[in-house]
Amino acid sequence: METTRKQIEREPTGVPGLDEALKGGLPKDIITLVTGTPGSGKTTLSMQFLIYGAQHGEKGIYFTLEESAADIIEQASLFDPSVNDLIASNMLKIVEVPIVDYDSMKETISAESDALDAKRIVIDSVNYFQMFFPDIISIRRAIMEVSLMLKSRHALGILIGEIPSGEDKLSTFGVEEFAADGVIALYLLEKQGTFTRAMRIVKMRNTDHITKFMPIEITDKGLVVYPNAELFQDV
Ligand SMILES: Nc1ncnc2c1ncn2[C@@H]1O[C@H](COP(=O)(O)OP(=O)(O)O)[C@@H](O)[C@H]1O
Ligand SMILES: [Mg+2]
Repeated sequence: METTRKQIEREPTGVPGLDEALKGGLPKDIITLVTGTPGSGKTTLSMQFLIYGAQHGEKGIYFTLEESAADIIEQASLFDPSVNDLIASNMLKIVEVPIVDYDSMKETISAESDALDAKRIVIDSVNYFQMFFPDIISIRRAIMEVSLMLKSRHALGILIGEIPSGEDKLSTFGVEEFAADGVIALYLLEKQGTFTRAMRIVKMRNTDHITKFMPIEITDKGLVVYPNAELFQDV
């Protein structure tokens, strides 16, 4: 019964509407896979998550394997100019991870997270792990291992996973959704020639959550979720 249920500790995401959809925020110390096609909002959501944490005393770190740190900072500063101050005051750090080898990447993630004492950690994206290995089994093993590595740090983690446009699945390697405690999928849906943005919380450990597709928008303030709205208004 509701009254006997143990209250779990939660952390606000910083994304308007998402905490309501999660019935109060992300459970502590979990790893969430944020998955979607290019342009679906994964980087925007993840930066909002880090900026919110940094503004509330939790240091955040973003590991980028693809986009330059300068591009990520520039895009984030368009919807929240405080990003530059947060970086200057050492509350937020964007780290470019060179694609050299898997062990160097793990060492970079571990050492940089330790040095900052990061409480929120984002890795963008696990798809780049395929640069380190010739076979899918090794890629899958690496994704599981990095997820466990983040989990052991007692931080909130986001793994970003990219799905090729037009594919109706949650992950590229078939393991990302199992490596994470939670899965948030972002969509760019096409209906009658117009594109609609949507989000679905596919799973989230230790909490009830909204399960339907929810409309989202990317505005000049970042990504906004509308948990009480219907995705398509049939008129
Ligand atoms: N101020 C804005 N207003 C509306 N849409 C925006 C704005 N800034 C960015 N976008 C949209 O957000 C998308 C970028 O999202 P991003 O988080 O980088 O996606 P992903 O990381 O999933 O590839 C762009 O393709 C653009 O359509
Ligand atoms: Mg991105």
